[in-house]
Amino acid sequence: MKARDILEAGGLVAIPTETVYGLAGNALNPQAVARIFEVKRRPYFDPLIVHTDSIDRAREFVLEMPPAFEALAEAFLPGPLTFLLPRKPVIPDLVTAGSERVAIRIPDHPLALELLSVLPFPLAAPSANPFGYISPTRAEHVAKQLGDQIGYILDGGPCGIGLESTIIGMEDGGPVIYRLGGLAIDAIEAVTGPVKIELNQSSDPKVPGQLKSHYAPHKPVYFGDLKTLLAQHAGKKIGILGFGKTIARSSEVLTVQLSERGDLYEAATRLFACLRELDDSDAEIILASPVPATGLGLAINDRLMRASA
Ligand code: TXA
Ligand code: MG
Repeated sequence: MKARDILEAGGLVAIPTETVYGLAGNALNPQAVARIFEVKRRPYFDPLIVHTDSIDRAREFVLEMPPAFEALAEAFLPGPLTFLLPRKPVIPDLVTAGSERVAIRIPDHPLALELLSVLPFPLAAPSANPFGYISPTRAEHVAKQLGDQIGYILDGGPCGIGLESTIIGMEDGGPVIYRLGGLAIDAIEAVTGPVKIELNQSSDPKVPGQLKSHYAPHKPVYFGDLKTLLAQHAGKKIGILGFGKTIARSSEVLTVQLSERGDLYEAATRLFACLRELDDSDAEIILASPVPATGLGLAINDRLMRASA
């Protein structure tokens, strides 16, 4: 397998997951990990998620697994949920940016799982986009932006979920969500009981990937009430990210629909591709309004807010 050979030689491969494409390298090899930061132009203080193919293998990298996480793993893994856990020394400092916690994830994608199962090491993989830009949900997105710098892109088709994994850790014995993502909070709470939500929005945050400005197109994004925004930006060439029955039909306005039938799962899978489409269109600015704030809608609104910051 080509991906395997490149990774074993210390190179980088873009891999498909159910959430977004990842830029993967040997998580136990500091040189491979350093190259990931370089290619993404990502600051070294922003730690990487370690991907593996089973909870048993995950135990090789963490000191302990709280019972609540065993239950979550049983219910949802492989799937879009990342655990922050105390790391063993085998995990290089560079991966965790010096933190004593490592992020562990078991992606739900057949090609990724097959690859992980034949490799003797786990894979460090951030989303395969230049730092701060929209995450890739198709192999073409990766090829367009990072293609000339990566050994190989493993094409696993369009990502089934389209939003990054939800990140969960433990503080004072209780679960804390640090990033809203592809697994909805209510699904998690059904297993663990109430969780605390701690989304960082400063520009010097504890979870750096939660930077206030993130997932951002090159064009300005405005997030709010559509009618108000349209009035404020009259005269400009406008691109609208629509959801359900979105208004405005004029030649100056291009509407790209997240989900015509108002389905949040469909909207999640299409979100990043639609933002790219608008970024590549001749619209000057992008307008979006909040989708319903339930289930995956919370994570979609979070991404839109950061895209507009
Ligand atoms: O769905 C996903 O999680 C995708 C796919 C490729 O697996 N990966 C992803 O990685 O979204 P990335 O690097 O774009 O975002 C990882 C997030 C960042 O916000 C980072 O700060 C946080 O995880 N993170 C990673 N390790 C951490 C650690 N040790 N402590 C705190 N936050 C951590
Ligand atoms: Mg990312």
